[in-house]
Order: sequence, then C-alpha cells, then structure tokens
Amino acid sequence: MWKDWIRPFVRPLPQWSVVAVASPQQAVAANLCWNGATADVTSDHTVASLRPLTIATSLDAGPHPTLEYRDRASGRRLGVLQLARAAAVSSEGSTLTLYHVAAGGHRCLAWPLRPWNTWLQNRLMQRTAPSPHSLMAPAATQQLMIAYLSPRPVILVSVDAPGHHNIFPMDLIGPLGRSGLFALALRSTNVSVPTMRESRRVALSCMPAAMKDAVYALSVHHKQPLTDWEALPFPVRRSRTFGIPAVAAALRIRELEIVHSEEVGSHTLFLGRVVSEEALAQATQLHHTAGFHQAWRRRHGQPFTEPRTA
Ligand SMILES: Cc1cc2nc3c(=O)[nH]c(=O)nc-3n(C[C@H](O)[C@H](O)[C@H](O)COP(=O)(O)O)c2cc1C
Repeated sequence: MWKDWIRPFVRPLPQWSVVAVASPQQAVAANLCWNGATADVTSDHTVASLRPLTIATSLDAGPHPTLEYRDRASGRRLGVLQLARAAAVSSEGSTLTLYHVAAGGHRCLAWPLRPWNTWLQNRLMQRTAPSPHSLMAPAATQQLMIAYLSPRPVILVSVDAPGHHNIFPMDLIGPLGRSGLFALALRSTNVSVPTMRESRRVALSCMPAAMKDAVYALSVHHKQPLTDWEALPFPVRRSRTFGIPAVAAALRIRELEIVHSEEVGSHTLFLGRVVSEEALAQATQLHHTAGFHQAWRRRHGQPFTEPRTA
C-alpha cells in the first residue's frame, strides 16, 4: 500500500519499543573503546541519571572513551555514544566510573530517513505534553535511545518498611559485572527514595512480557506509595531472606542489599549486592529498546516480539 511507503516520511518512529526478550539479552553487544583497547560491557554498564545523561560502568576507560552497540548476529555497528569521564564512585572496595554522554549517533536508518526521523521526533517532543523523559532535551533523548539499543529489562521494585510499602517499574537498572554491584537509577522525586536509603533493602521481580499492562499500571507508584499489598491485581510471594512482597508470577526474584546511594543529577543511584536470587519460571521478559532499533530489525526480517496490550 502506498500509505505504508509514505508513513516514515510524515510520521516519526516511536521513541521506544516494548519488546519480549529472553534475559539476559544476547542480541546486542556493548563495547567500551579507548586508546586502541576494547572491553565488553554488555553486562557492565547502565544509565545512572537522565539529566545530565550519565552512564555508569565498573571500568575506567580513560577520559574520552566511546561506547558502541553492535548487533551480535551480523557484527553490524548500530550506534555509538561519545563519553566524557565525570566522576568516580567508590563503595565496598569497588570503584565505578560515571561518564557524561557528550554526543552520539546511530545507523539503524539509512540517510536521508535518519536525520529526517530525528527531526520529526524532536519536533513531536517539543510539541507534545511532558513525557516521563521530559526532563531531558531532545538531543539527550536521542542519545538515551542509543543507550537503549541494548534492550533494557523491566523489573518491579518492592519496598516494604514500617509505614511505607511500594512497588513500581524500573528499567534504568542492571548489573555492573566486574564490580559485582547491581545499580538502580531512580528519579530523586520518587516517593520511596527516602525509605530505600534508610531500609537499604529491596526485592526485584523480573517481569514476564505477558504482564506488560499490569507493569505499566504501577508507574503511578513512582509518585504515591502503595496503601495495601492486598490491593495489587496479582498475587505476591515473600522474598526469601527479607520477606518483602514480590510478584508471585515473576520469572526471577532478586533481593538487593543497598550498600551505597548518592544523587547523580536528576536521579539517585542505588548500588546493591544481590543477597538471594530465585529463578521461578522461564519465559520472555519485558524489555524496552529504541524504536529505530526495532525498525532496523524489522527491515532485516528479525523483529523482537511485541507483547500485546489487552
Ligand atoms: C516500564 C517503566 C520503567 C520505568 N523505569 C524507571 C526508572 O528506571 N527510573 C525512574 O526513575 N523512573 C522510571 N519510570 C518512571 C517514569 O520515568 C515516570 O516517572 C513515571 O512513569 C511517572 O510518569 P509521569 O512523571 O509522566 O507521571 C519507569 C516507568 C515505567 C512505566
């Protein structure tokens, strides 16, 4: 149909695609490159803050490394971020490096569609109502999409302390492999930040893609705590050591003891050690990737599955 052909020229691609991927994702490799050296950081980097857009990793790759994302099957370079070293964070004998994103680009769309789609997306961001990422300028949002070339798993974080219960979705999370730490970047305005800093315990439920709608519905709890665990639309089970209510239908439940937290720009970066890990079921996990990544995969006949909305 002529409409399918004309659509990319008049409408931008969605910024984000919600996809169903087996975890840990294997589709995209992330490499840090500096001074002729290369290190695989696929499971050793995460977003630490949205404003300024900041990447955390356990490596110190010098003052100006690049972070490149490659499709594993074809070896094709999908995108790259230019980083600038900003700070170091030390905790329990491990040191992480925080890098600001200075610039970036992707190769998921061919010229002239690539700059045209960027222009359409940026125009839409400037015109529409604030989105969850509206604390970022359009150029930084484009760079964040590049960071999402490596599909990011979605979890539900449970907090349970006297007088405060909560459960909310997060995807700015992940292991920082070499340090053995696990990071969560939570906007400092989140209602549970003070409790998490004090109780230093959370349970993380890895969410099956089939529970997409339930996960999204819980985003309201970034702003208001949960009144009662019984009010959730799905059953919970207590986590193994801390006894924190987590999702009974989760693929995996991890307990995290928070060993360090500090404000990094717009977010509070929590660093934790995994105290227990229960593998409960095998299915695809809810992930987010960039819309232009899904478009690239579709063009190559291998799109990620997209979970249905009820
Ligand atoms: C699937 C999902 C993942 C999210 N991940 C994070 C996260 O990692 N860190 C964070 O601070 N907020 C996260 N959020 C919260 C949103 O960025 C946003 O603050 C929240 O949905 C409230 O949106 P609003 O400010 O537009 O009302 C997530 C929300 C959803 C739905």
